[in-house]
Amino acid sequence: MGKDKLRKWAENESFDIVFEPPLKEIVEGATFKQNEWGSTVFGNDNPITLELGCGKGEYTLALAKKYPERNFVGVDVKGHRFWRGAKTSIQEGISNVAFLRTRIEFVHHMFGKDEVSEIWLTFSDPQKGNESGTKRITSYHFWERYKRFLKPDGIINIKTDSPLIYKNALEEIKEHGAELLVENGNIYESDISHFPVDIQELLEVKTYYEQIWLAQGDTIKYVQFKLNG
Ligand SMILES: C[S@@+](CC[C@H](N)C(=O)[O-])C[C@H]1O[C@@H](n2cnc3c(N)ncnc32)[C@H](O)[C@@H]1O
Repeated sequence: MGKDKLRKWAENESFDIVFEPPLKEIVEGATFKQNEWGSTVFGNDNPITLELGCGKGEYTLALAKKYPERNFVGVDVKGHRFWRGAKTSIQEGISNVAFLRTRIEFVHHMFGKDEVSEIWLTFSDPQKGNESGTKRITSYHFWERYKRFLKPDGIINIKTDSPLIYKNALEEIKEHGAELLVENGNIYESDISHFPVDIQELLEVKTYYEQIWLAQGDTIKYVQFKLNG
């Protein structure tokens, strides 16, 4: 085990904005903080947004800074990655952000019915060999989990470099009667002036992986939708 990872994990334990429910108990059915994030973590009832697969957490942090009247939780299984976002949040005194180390397969154990208003899925792994989508966190298979804690009018945002994720999301929205709100297959080279201004501004924030894919010449795609029931 690399020393740097161990140091970051140890430091995460000292951060009061980082949470790591014991995976073994969660797998066996335990829950963690369901319907308690507002009262015990943020100290208010403001709407909660999740970034699932947040990596270094810079997008979660950017959202938290842009919307101080909302709360944000970055979720990733790799705690040494979001250590960066957590550390910066603490250094900058950002109080509407938290990080949760878990597998997204179990995220519905950690948020209760209607507890979450919005989800961002940023540069998720396309899981190319996984035809059925059971491992792809952007797929309908996972929407079934998200429905358990997303408000009925809650919004899902997918920002991706992956043609597979983009195509799949559009197909599944149609197939399962979800409501497509906004989409574009090449956001930086298209006219998106008809998008809501907030979204135009947000799409300018580039994540760590996004910068890598952009440098390789990949096009960036965006889909926003509501599950509706
Ligand atoms: C390609 S990276 C993108 C990170 C970040 N969103 C960005 O754009 O820079 C995908 C992230 O999702 C996380 N991830 C993938 N599958 C996961 C799962 N099932 N549960 C939790 N985290 C997962 C990985 O650990 C990784 O940090």
